[in-house]
Amino acid sequence: MKGVLLAGGNGTRLAPLTRLMNKHLLPVGRHPMIAYGVERLRQAGVTDLLLVTGARSLGLYGEYFEDGRDFGVRITYRVQEQAGGIAEAVELAKGFIVPGDRFVVLLGDNLFLDDLDSYISNFVRQPAGSARVLLSPVEDPHRYGVPVFASDGSGRVERIEEKPSQPQSGYAVTGIYMYDHTVFDLIEVIHPSSRGELEITDVNNLYAVQGKLQYDILSKWWCDAGTFESLQEASERMKDVLP
Ligand code: DAU
Repeated sequence: MKGVLLAGGNGTRLAPLTRLMNKHLLPVGRHPMIAYGVERLRQAGVTDLLLVTGARSLGLYGEYFEDGRDFGVRITYRVQEQAGGIAEAVELAKGFIVPGDRFVVLLGDNLFLDDLDSYISNFVRQPAGSARVLLSPVEDPHRYGVPVFASDGSGRVERIEEKPSQPQSGYAVTGIYMYDHTVFDLIEVIHPSSRGELEITDVNNLYAVQGKLQYDILSKWWCDAGTFESLQEASERMKDVLP
């Protein structure tokens, strides 16, 4: 199992904090935000990592992690020229991910307390060519990708709606995704959304229509630290998680 950490994007919702500093290097507790994702993956035995970020911030990540050795992982870096969407950033992992590999994608602004081991084990048991997403119950689903469950009681995710005004469930699709090499074929067939991005939700929906999208529900606290309020909350929650 390999890991792909996404730390690109513009972080506009966190301006002016992000005018100088890439969002995922902002302090959360005692560490830069991105350190928690690296540690979660390492704890789950995922140590071969690709970190995707913008050209402007690459040097800072390199200075902080170097090759990852001091953090118990091996980090390869790749530049995303512009914030063209999460699926575009995932596409940059082609080559690092080779046929036969499976991998976990973590959005660098997602902070959480669950161990990933059991979810990864569930994914390993899935057939090749399928995907897995992790969900979390939330009070404000309209801010996220929201799963719509099949009405036949099977518990299957029929589709995901991205930031719907009328959410069909009380869950967020978190930024923790599991794929194999087939994801690159699906990214090739999607088109930019109305906000001009290649959306990971469109990719996940291609798996869902084929009945190839499975999920788990996180059992502990999760947050997307993309706003000032959630960044503050994350800082408080995470302050004793890493020494
Ligand atoms: O946090 C979970 C949510 O993340 C999901 O529920 C949504 O379905 C998903 O679309 C995403 O929504 P956001 O609006 O929060 O995505 P955002 O643009 O803030 O980007 C999330 C992370 O992905 C952030 O850590 C930076 C990284 N990213 C984003 C873009 C657009 C990149 O590395 N490159 C990019 O081009």
